[in-house]
Amino acid sequence: MTKGEAKKRIDKLKKVISYHRYLYHVLDRQEASDAAFDSLKHELYELEQEFPELITPGSPTQRVGGKPLKQFKKVKHRIPMLSIEDVFSGEELKKWEDYLGRMILSKKFEYFTEPKIDGFAVTLIYKKGILVSGATRGDGRIGEDITQNLKTIESIPLKLKIHSLPNTGKKLPKKIIKKIERLIKKGTIEIRGEVYIGKKDFEKLNKKLKKKGGKTFANPRNLAAGSIRQLDPKLAASRPLKFFAYDVITNLGHKKHSQSHQILFSLGLKTDLGKECKNLKEIIGYWNNISKKRKSFSFQIDGVVVTVNDRSVFKKLGVVGKSPRGIRAFKFSPQEVTTVIKDIRLQIGRTGALTPIAILKPVRVGGVVISRATLHNAEEIKRLGVRIGDTVVVSRAGDVIPAITKVFPKLRSGREKEFKLPKDCPSCGTKLLRQKQEVIWRCPNPNCFAKKKRYFHHFISKRAFDIVGLGPKIINKLIEEGLVSDPADLFKLKEGDILPLERFAKKSAQNLIKAIQSKNIVSLSKLIYALGIRNIGEQTSQDLADHFGSLDRLKKASFSELEKIKDIGPIVAKSIYEFFQKKGNLELVEKLKKSGVKIKSSKIKSSKLKGLTFVLTGSLNVMTRGEAKEKIRLLGGDTSESISEKTDFIIVGNDPGSKFKKAKKLKIKIMEEKEFLKMLR
Ligand code: IVH
Repeated sequence: MTKGEAKKRIDKLKKVISYHRYLYHVLDRQEASDAAFDSLKHELYELEQEFPELITPGSPTQRVGGKPLKQFKKVKHRIPMLSIEDVFSGEELKKWEDYLGRMILSKKFEYFTEPKIDGFAVTLIYKKGILVSGATRGDGRIGEDITQNLKTIESIPLKLKIHSLPNTGKKLPKKIIKKIERLIKKGTIEIRGEVYIGKKDFEKLNKKLKKKGGKTFANPRNLAAGSIRQLDPKLAASRPLKFFAYDVITNLGHKKHSQSHQILFSLGLKTDLGKECKNLKEIIGYWNNISKKRKSFSFQIDGVVVTVNDRSVFKKLGVVGKSPRGIRAFKFSPQEVTTVIKDIRLQIGRTGALTPIAILKPVRVGGVVISRATLHNAEEIKRLGVRIGDTVVVSRAGDVIPAITKVFPKLRSGREKEFKLPKDCPSCGTKLLRQKQEVIWRCPNPNCFAKKKRYFHHFISKRAFDIVGLGPKIINKLIEEGLVSDPADLFKLKEGDILPLERFAKKSAQNLIKAIQSKNIVSLSKLIYALGIRNIGEQTSQDLADHFGSLDRLKKASFSELEKIKDIGPIVAKSIYEFFQKKGNLELVEKLKKSGVKIKSSKIKSSKLKGLTFVLTGSLNVMTRGEAKEKIRLLGGDTSESISEKTDFIIVGNDPGSKFKKAKKLKIKIMEEKEFLKMLR
């Protein structure tokens, strides 16, 4: 990016950020999610780091919080309330450490890590041990006096006193205790922390507000912010606000930030005793640990705060813009980030369906880097109003497929391009067709190269014929050279056919033929799945195999017969029926048989598991779920897709889903993969 381009981008980002910031910090309203907003800020921060000469005092990176509301009295902070820069990965953390090293020519730092609470920052001033004033952050320099409201929060002590430290392992030096005692008697102690609302309280309150027909809040942070800035302290008092302390500003002679937490704790404030970390590895370990535990926390946290523990080093490192160099927020991977659409390309599926795919500037979302996201269909593109070159929000909420959920039209430069779906197939030029009531356009040409390629990939995939060693490049070559025109041809290939292909020698050609031939016996369900009938996944293939027992019987099934099968609706029945009406498909089935493809007998081999019903959740290491189900059936057992009182066992693989939760609730016997394999033996 040139400096000119950077400046344009920076100006636009600032406008959009300041609009959303105003909504969020001043009006307690939200149009873009926190994560999306953070992501825009992060982009701005990074651009400004690259072109520091473009940093202006008015930049959102140089300012903290919003303008003070007029109605509250303003208070000038004696020490500014600064903000923290974010990092999202171990690499970014490493960059920070290197930077610190360069700043003060040191290689070793000790850190302190603690949870980052998603609430609302406030500062508390105690004079002679009594809470006399409390304020919001405001713009970092001047905040709003919310003393009355803060006093209603029970986790904020009105009077400080030293409590003896239970079970912290460490004792505060006598000197520090003496100083605290002195300041409690006649002096000032300033404490900072976060006002927040617990997750449960948030839900309860939101429900109540909804019942009354009032405004509800998007998240606990907004509710806490909205409540603490109520002009009527009675209303604030009615909200279950809490306070979490994370710093003591007053110099109490303590040398480490970790001691600040001990001090806060001993002063009777709710705080986290965090962890001292000797290196980045320990920080990452702490971060991993907290991110695993975060669900069980009663309040929301959005990351871990990492501070250079030695207070004098921290001070020496100083401040850049409005954030100290010696502190970073190591955020949990956001489920939402912003990025730019570099291009929109079309993908042709095995059924000829055209799917527009957004090619993204790579971003990390939900812990992984992604570079593409489906746009589903032309309707979706229209609905989002998305153009090539747009800045968008990519979400990866819970599920595995990332989706584009929002566009920022105000960030456009004017060079964005609208995307139009072509009228003809980009691969073979055949006119695209769309069925009534469908949003998907398809290429109807059965010989379309792109479609064919996809079909081959599907046919040999793990859940179908599971032919390993036959990668996409080889398949493309085989089709291009006319060596195969449908998957049945694969089983007729001879060593000599493959040998002339680029990069093949005798041995590798032999191996490939062996790999193909070793997979010519499949189960009926896998064969049905491999045929690639529209709307037929692994489970339906299994159901069909169970019901019909042979391909011949399935082939001849009438529409009404198909529709009557459990779990098969009219759309699926129609797909199957229509598939076997087409001459080409019937020919393929015949050809497969002639090429030596055989169906494995799926006769029940034993009654070892008779009368038992199993449910599977999560992925297994040594087989697919489909294979596991087949094995259970062969031993006389039953499988089901959902947990009920009738379930005898749940087999739990990696990343189990909601079924696991339900099974635990119903106290169903849990079986791990190891035990399951043992049982099969
Ligand atoms: S230390 C220089 N510690 O996060 C600011 N802040 O995004 C030092 N926050 O302004 C703040 N948990 O409102 C600190 N354990 C924690 C925190 C924490 C939440 C908030 C705080 C801060 C904001 C920065």
